[in-house]
This record gives sequence, C-alpha cells and structure tokens, in this order.
Amino acid sequence: MPSKIEEIKLELESYQVETQEDLEGFRMQFIARKSVIGALFGEMKNVPAEERKQFGQEVNELKNLAQTKFQNHIEALANDNSSTETHADLTLPPTRSSFGSIHPLTATRQRFIEIFERIGFNVSSGPEIEDDWHNFTALNFPENHPAREMQDTFFIQKNPDIALRTHTSSVQVRVMENEKPPIRTLSPGRVFRNEAISARAHCVFHQMEGLYIDRGVSFADLKQTLYHFAKEMFGKDTKLRFRPSYFPFTEPSAEIDISCQICHGDGCNICKYTGWVEIGGSGMVDPNVLANCDIDPEVYTGFAFGMGIERITMLKHQINDLRLFTENDIRFLKQFSTL
Ligand code: DAH
Repeated sequence: MPSKIEEIKLELESYQVETQEDLEGFRMQFIARKSVIGALFGEMKNVPAEERKQFGQEVNELKNLAQTKFQNHIEALANDNSSTETHADLTLPPTRSSFGSIHPLTATRQRFIEIFERIGFNVSSGPEIEDDWHNFTALNFPENHPAREMQDTFFIQKNPDIALRTHTSSVQVRVMENEKPPIRTLSPGRVFRNEAISARAHCVFHQMEGLYIDRGVSFADLKQTLYHFAKEMFGKDTKLRFRPSYFPFTEPSAEIDISCQICHGDGCNICKYTGWVEIGGSGMVDPNVLANCDIDPEVYTGFAFGMGIERITMLKHQINDLRLFTENDIRFLKQFSTL
C-alpha cells in the first residue's frame, strides 16, 4: 500500500497546471470525493488492523499535500492572468473610449442664450403643465375663439382647464406678473401639441420665447434685435424678412423669415424655391396683455417673439427630419461632437 501512496505523490507533484482546465483535472484526480486519494480512504477497511494507523496517517498527509498544491495552483493561475494584463502590448493601437457630447438642440439653446445675454437678457422658465389663464386667456385669446383651436392642445383637465402648454408665451405672462419693467427675458422650454409625428412636425418640441418691456420700446427695436440675433446665429450675410401676421397677444404681429441657409436664395426644396424660411413669430405686445399682467400700457410698450429651437437647429445644420432629434441614434449624435 505505501507504494501506491508514493506513486500518487509523484503523480501529484509532477502534474502540470497551466490552464483552468488543468486545474479542474487536478481537482478531479486528487481532491474530489471520487479522486484517487478519496479511493484510498475507502480502502482503509481492508488494511490489517496493526497497519491501519500508519496507513491513515500517510493518506492524511497525502491529502494535505494535494490540498496545498491545489491552493498553490489556484494562486499561480490568478497571478498569471494579472501579469498578462500588466505586460500589455504597448505597440497595439489604443481602444478608443467614446465621450458623450452635447445634443444639437442643447447647443442651439446655449448659443441662443449666449447671444441674448450679451445684450442684457436673462433666462426665465415656467411650468410645462399650465392653466388656461397663462397659456391662453392672459395672452388675449378670447373665450371660445378659434385661435385656441389653432394650437392643438393636449388638455389634462377641463373646467377649469389645465393643459400641457402649447407655447412658451405662457412664460411671458408669468414673468410680467412677477417682475416690474424693464424686463428683458428669454424663456426656453418644451411645448406640446396634438400633432401626428412626421419629418416636419412633432407632438413635443422646443421653443425660445423672447420678451422686452420698457418705456418707449418700438418695432424698430424688435427688428434690430432680431437682425442682431440672426447674424450672430447664422452668419453675417443672413437676411431677415418680416411678414405681417396675426397672433392674439401681439399687435402688430409679424412672422420672421431668414434667407435660406441651404441654397442662399438660389431656390431649393427646403425653402420651397422662395429663398426664405420661416423661423418664428413676433410682434409688439398687445396692450391687453400688459394690462392683464398689471403693467400700465400707457407707460410701457414691448416686443415679443417665439421661435422653434428644432427649426433653427435644422437650418443651421441642414437636418431634414425632426425625428432624428429624439431617436438617440448614435450615428446622428456623433456628428455634433464638436459643438
Ligand atoms: N407663441 C407663438 C406660437 O407658438 C409664437 C409667437 C409668436 C410668440 C409671436 C411670440 C410672438 O412671443 O410675439 O406659434
């Protein structure tokens, strides 16, 4: 019997463990219950009584040796793995980690704010869930007037009406209710309309509202401020055009067009071959709106404008589908990583 023990001892000591599979082989052969050493314990009963003690001792020693070896093999394998990591091949090309970048809509909003902050505007905000007063009534939308239907509203509750705001003009009202003129403020935010989603329309989009109230503010100030903005945002050669329009909260009102950034007037399908693209609405704040907010229209005048942030971004970067902004397609977003 001792010779059998010697034999196993030799085998165990010369057993090569280089991989996880070898380690498992070692475990099966020397450690597991059905291993050769396990079998020796089973043979104990066949050993003559006078030799049994000695045999038991030797088998136990063998078992301890196998355990120690097994532990050593585990540690050696672990060290092996970490040493291949520390000895990385420095001649290999690096794996690039990709950084997140600013969303193009955020970049436009930030640029917008930067331009207006330099001419004395601050930034204000209001809730996305609005009451009828701030979204419609204070802005001079007559009760049951079809103008309310112009903006396909998502109502949350009727009587009293609570809705998702359809425009950021609601923030104008909140600012005028809470502050005294002079007021120069920019209100960026999400707005909601019950529209089918397409390349040109979405039910959630962003607007930038501007408001300037003081003594003696005129339509010339409105035009000059927007000229300044357009040149800063799109470049020095950008032209602006004001088209007479109607909004309940401004009088007179004008729609703002900029010279097409894509064809520069030659005609293309973005500007529908007119050379002009609409970027928003504007006008002189209606005296009724000032009065609704406790600002004396005999003393103060002001202008307001509202623009779509998506629209501006699309023109600036020649993006032709509104849905790209919300799809989170990394191939689209990556193109703006330098903004
Ligand atoms: N609120 C208008 C809209 O969503 C845009 C607008 C037009 C805002 C004229 C204004 C304005 O402040 O003066 O269509």
